[in-house]
Amino acid sequence: MEIKKIAILGAGTMGQGIAWALALASKEVVLYDIKQEFCDRAIGTISKSLAKAEEKGKVTAGTKDAVISRIQGTGNFEDVADVDFVIECVFENMDVKKEVYTKLDKMLRPEVVIATNTSSLSITEIAAITERPSQVIGMHFFNPANVMKLVEVIPAVQTSEETIETVMELSKAIGKTPVKVKEGPGFVVNRILLPGMNEAAFILYEGLAAAEDIDTAMKLGAGWPMGPLTLCDLVGVDIALAVCNTLYNETGDPKYRPAPPFKQLVRAGWLGMKTGKGFFEYKK
Ligand code: 3HC
Repeated sequence: MEIKKIAILGAGTMGQGIAWALALASKEVVLYDIKQEFCDRAIGTISKSLAKAEEKGKVTAGTKDAVISRIQGTGNFEDVADVDFVIECVFENMDVKKEVYTKLDKMLRPEVVIATNTSSLSITEIAAITERPSQVIGMHFFNPANVMKLVEVIPAVQTSEETIETVMELSKAIGKTPVKVKEGPGFVVNRILLPGMNEAAFILYEGLAAAEDIDTAMKLGAGWPMGPLTLCDLVGVDIALAVCNTLYNETGDPKYRPAPPFKQLVRAGWLGMKTGKGFFEYKK
């Protein structure tokens, strides 16, 4: 089956970036969230960024209108019913996912694959919610999803070879490079990256260096494109904490225990760029 129309569930940071990447690759996108205004905000951000890119000559004239015309934002779950493929990016909470997958499973055509962008929950557990566990898989994008080329493809224990093949091919068709990874906490990238970001937060907490200096050190001393604390603000301090908790809880290894600043920032609601403040402050 050719995949033409794709639903993205959740118009947060990742949903927005994935919608952008898919529409740029000429896919028709249905971007769903519980409120229409969340979708409108996401589409507005994509539109503004592409308008700037057009002005600077980074993309050809007309790209913005073409991309935006391919994204239908909706607060009505029924609009997802006729899609060929689903990428789920809803809130990282198993109870929320259970509700969404139960409704989704009943509504979609039986052959449709559901991919989850989860970075911290078990894909096997998510697959087991549905009556189509062999067609549920992890498809992990990286922030900013319209820019980063990697997609980690993570089969659940129930996932069929056909589903894996479908997702590998779709990833390539949208200009990404897929890497197949067995299910395990953090997969590959977060298993390596998050301990680095967590260690940066511990260094800050221990008062060994200022936040700006920690980031400068890693940019200039290790060639990171952005410092670990800025990166944390980009992915969301709440997401970084959730991934650290998963690594820690699933392995029981104390080396993954989250640094106190992660918890403090989340308790304060300072979640990074999306809230205007995290380790650093950002203009809204
Ligand atoms: N949203 C959308 N697009 C963005 C963006 C954002 N927040 N930030 C930058 N961009 C785009 C720019 O528009 C530009 O696009 P163009 O090439 O088409 O003009 C492109 O990215 C490059 O941006 P800049 O030239 O302004 O800046 P840089 O060269 O410094 O690149 C970066 C920005 C790509 C974000 C780079 O700093 C980088 O690679 N940072 C590391 C990102 C990273 O590690 N991501 C993975 C996080 S882990 C994760 O997401 C997993 C999750 O489960 C936790």
